[in-house]
Amino acid sequence: MFKINDNYLKLPGSYLFSNIAKKVNAFSEQHPEATIIRLGIGDVTQPLAPAIIDALHGAVDEMAHAETFRGYAPDLGYEFLRNAIAKNDFADRGCEIAADEIFISDGAKCDSGNIQEIFSLDNRIAVCDPVYPVYVDSNVMAGRTGSYDPLTERWSDVIYMPCTEANGFAPEFPKQTPDLIYLCFPNNPTGATITKSQLQEWVDYANRVGAVILFDAAYEAYISEDDVPHSIYECEGARTCAIELRSFSKNAGFTGTRLGFTVIPKDLKANGVMLHALWARRHGTKYNGAPYIVQKAGEAVYSEAGKKQVTEQVAYYMKNAQTIREGLQAAGFTAYGGVNSPYVWLKTPDHMTSWEFFDYLLEQANVVGTPGSGFGPSGEGYFRLTGFGTYENTLAALERIRRL
Ligand code: MLT
Repeated sequence: MFKINDNYLKLPGSYLFSNIAKKVNAFSEQHPEATIIRLGIGDVTQPLAPAIIDALHGAVDEMAHAETFRGYAPDLGYEFLRNAIAKNDFADRGCEIAADEIFISDGAKCDSGNIQEIFSLDNRIAVCDPVYPVYVDSNVMAGRTGSYDPLTERWSDVIYMPCTEANGFAPEFPKQTPDLIYLCFPNNPTGATITKSQLQEWVDYANRVGAVILFDAAYEAYISEDDVPHSIYECEGARTCAIELRSFSKNAGFTGTRLGFTVIPKDLKANGVMLHALWARRHGTKYNGAPYIVQKAGEAVYSEAGKKQVTEQVAYYMKNAQTIREGLQAAGFTAYGGVNSPYVWLKTPDHMTSWEFFDYLLEQANVVGTPGSGFGPSGEGYFRLTGFGTYENTLAALERIRRL
């Protein structure tokens, strides 16, 4: 008789955003008259920028002719895209990252879920609490997290680094020494950031204890303040301890188009073995690459017109985030984030739990957000709203919240 991977059975409930979608659909069926405003999942609402659409059209036409048709993409991704990334995202910021240290993929969610495969099962992971659920859940599936305690909502073999109001939502070095450290800045869900010198301390720490930092920089385009790093490779020594995950979803609206990349410097080694070589082996074996037309669209993000257009889009979402933060504060809420991030992290009123506030907001204002406790126990009593809606809906949602 076959056996299943029973690590899957240890996972409590379903994926956070699937859960929310089910609840919202049920509410909508019961209340078909309600106009629901969705500020829950961080999904973009603006169409792809014109420069990106032009590149897509051009690439589709190329696929229509034998002379320009493309089949399988190269394992690491097309050089034109990797060169554009190496120049714009790294060289121009003073970071030393070569094009062949960049692996193109169909998004940061998959990469952040898959990257744990190249590490031994007895590695100890450390995560911020609250945290993007994919980091923990993918390690549960692999069997790296021990047992789950429903009372504390914690896994026995995971090191949690609480990010709370008290520490400005910035993790502190854990008491136990981790092997893999997941960091995401600007942070999902809290919208908090850390400064370059704080990140440098993490890099120094990882090099000292022999840990790898898995740095999720999916929201770097939203940084507005000068001393906040866009890449971990701005820190000295990061080439020997850090992997960076990037996405085109949030900076250029590719949530449905799918494109991302992972950077693994060749200096990052365990007992002389390059992690780059392991990820290259995995990529070659399990993945056939993002489509040519999508990689051409990604290249257009770095064109002069593309850069201008995506910067305008980011500014549009940031105006929403500012509207949410300021609107909430004016209505008497305590709210964080929304300065270097599209996410606003608010304290639930009247000691409501995160899920109680979710139901209250859905039922009374027909506004959908994300309960903070869905991101981990330290998220209890908090709630996340996203700036990725339309401006009109954002204003309408805030007006409804103000009237509650
Ligand atoms: C979120 O809402 O946290 C993100 O959209 C999820 C993701 O990027 O996968």
